[in-house]
Order: sequence, then C-alpha cells, then structure tokens
Amino acid sequence: MLHGHGNDLHHQRFEIKADFSSNVVPGGMPEALKEYLADQLHLLENYPESDAAGAALAIARHHVIDPVQVIATNGSTEAFYLVAQLFREQASLILTPSFAEYEDAARCHRHRLTFWSHQQLKSRRTDDFNAVWLANPNNPDGCTWQPAAIEDLCAQNPQTHFVVDESYANLCPSTESLIQTSMPPNLIVVRSLTKDFGLPGLRAGYLVATPVIAQAINQLRMPWSVNALAQAAIGFIMTHYKDLLPDTAAILKESQRVQNILSKLPQLQVTPSDCNYFLVKTKVGDAADLKRYLLQNHGFLIRDAANFRSLSPQHFRLAVLQPDQNNQLISAIQSWIGQVC
Ligand SMILES: Cc1ncc(COP(=O)(O)O)c(C=O)c1O
Repeated sequence: MLHGHGNDLHHQRFEIKADFSSNVVPGGMPEALKEYLADQLHLLENYPESDAAGAALAIARHHVIDPVQVIATNGSTEAFYLVAQLFREQASLILTPSFAEYEDAARCHRHRLTFWSHQQLKSRRTDDFNAVWLANPNNPDGCTWQPAAIEDLCAQNPQTHFVVDESYANLCPSTESLIQTSMPPNLIVVRSLTKDFGLPGLRAGYLVATPVIAQAINQLRMPWSVNALAQAAIGFIMTHYKDLLPDTAAILKESQRVQNILSKLPQLQVTPSDCNYFLVKTKVGDAADLKRYLLQNHGFLIRDAANFRSLSPQHFRLAVLQPDQNNQLISAIQSWIGQVC
C-alpha cells in the first residue's frame, strides 16, 4: 500500500525539526558512503545490471553464502511483494502488531489472511498456512526471536514457509541472523540497508533463501528494479560493512536511557526494547493528540501507532535521535502530559 507504513514526513504542514517517527539510524548515512556515492553519478548514464547480480554477489560474499541464494531488491519492500507474488492466492499468517507492508503485499496478491500475536505462534501449528510473516526484531515493539526458535518452527511446520524480516537486526545487538549456507528449505530471510546505513531514499535490500526458492522468486522479478546507485551502494557497503555500521551499542544505551526516563512517568507504559525504537502507550489523551501537540509546538514528528493492527489510539512509537534532541522530546512529552491531566 502506498500510505499504510506511516512515514508521513512528506505530508506535514509544519516545519519538522526532529523526526522521531522514522526508525532510520540517528546521524543518517555514513560520510564515507556519501562521498563514494557522490562520485558514482556517472553510473546513471547507463542501464544498471538488470538482475543486480553483482550486488547479489557482494551480499553473498559478506554473508559467506552461495550467490544463488541471494536476490538484491529495491528495498526490503520489493522482497515482500515478490514473496507475496510467489504465494499468490494462498494462505498467509501475519504476526501482529507488525510492519504494514506484509499485509499490503499479501492483499495485493489476494492471500487469505489470518492474524496472530507472537505468543500464539509459540504454541500452535501453522500447517494451514503457506506463509508466515514475522519480523526479528519486530516493528513497532522491538520484540525478538531466538534463531533456534524460528528454526524449530521451520522444522515442525514443513508445509509452511517462514518469511523473516531482519531489517532492524543490525540495530538490535541481541538479534542473531538466520542467514547461512544451509538454510531450512522453508525459510526466507529479508533484509534492508535502509535503517542501519541511513539511506531510505536509495531503496536497497535483499532476500536470502535456498537456491530453489531464490530461483522461483527470480522468475517473478522485473528488470532494473535496483537502480545503478543502489547497486553501487550495496557493493560498497558489503565490502566495508563493519566500518560503515553505526555504533549500535551507543544507540542502544541511549534508547534504554530514554525508555527508562519515560517509563518512570506514571501516565506512560513503555514496552522495553533492545532496538533504537520502542513502543509507548499513553494512559492519558491519545497518540494523535500528542503527535499534533509535538508537531505544532516543537516541530517534533512521532509515529502515531494507532493504525498498526492490534494496537490502540493510545499507542505511539519513538525512535531515538541525538541525546540533546531526545531530552527535548522528553520535556515536550512531559509538558503535554501536564496539559491533558
Ligand atoms: C520492519 C520493517 N521492515 C522493512 C521496512 C522497509 O524497509 P525498506 O526501506 O528496505 O523497504 C520497514 C520500514 O519501516 C520496517 O519497519
């Protein structure tokens, strides 16, 4: 869907001074990547590789897996739509609350949909579903799964394919990737370079599966979906991966500092998260009013999480920025609470 994901930065009438609504890493794109891409504009004068095979090779080398397991995509979102196309008109189970694009991609390809909580998945079989969609860590609540638990699900439910979105894995130090050479035949892992490398506007992501699934998905792709700059960026990131990654330990420390302060306010209920973002429920007023107040009075944008399936109008999500900006946000939220109480 074009507007279900909740990134409404382009639709605001007020000047945005700080965007706490987007989970992209604070500080944005690394300087070295910016400089590299600035020198690559000449690539736009030719078509890129139609299947982005060079980018896929770089991804495979980074993960030490077979290149035939990898498909480079136009953001992880293209991967979700390709997977949904693979299971067209079949049955999908989506864990909630979660990123809206799993549902939108599945609806676009006419899946029969069922929604469970993460807890329900732990205690039930999934034989009735062709695909199960979940994120590790999850958006919006930062909920995580141990890789062994997902591998067990794959083993216990061989009829079902598990689509695991690891888009935030690098921003959540406690998450371990499921990507490896010998993956369960019914596992598809999707990753994004948007959040951790600060480039949502470029559109770069990938999926990893067994060669059989990857080849089936390959048949569904349109040519040139990954543009020339995105392909170059993928190659550069994969060869300088560790140097370009943000300081996730520092980001997590800051996220936990902000979570601690907000959780001491009796009007708020914070869901603890090991990620740069976290979910909050207000016991006073609602998220839409808080969002309006912060925007009009401070130029701060937050994510009203009411449109996440299974959440309420009282839920909102925050992603941490720099400490001084976070402190200003905390004060602004306290002022709002003072007004509504
Ligand atoms: C859980 C999750 N996965 C994937 C995405 C989209 O990533 P991309 O920019 O790679 O399409 C988002 C965007 O907010 C997200 O929250």
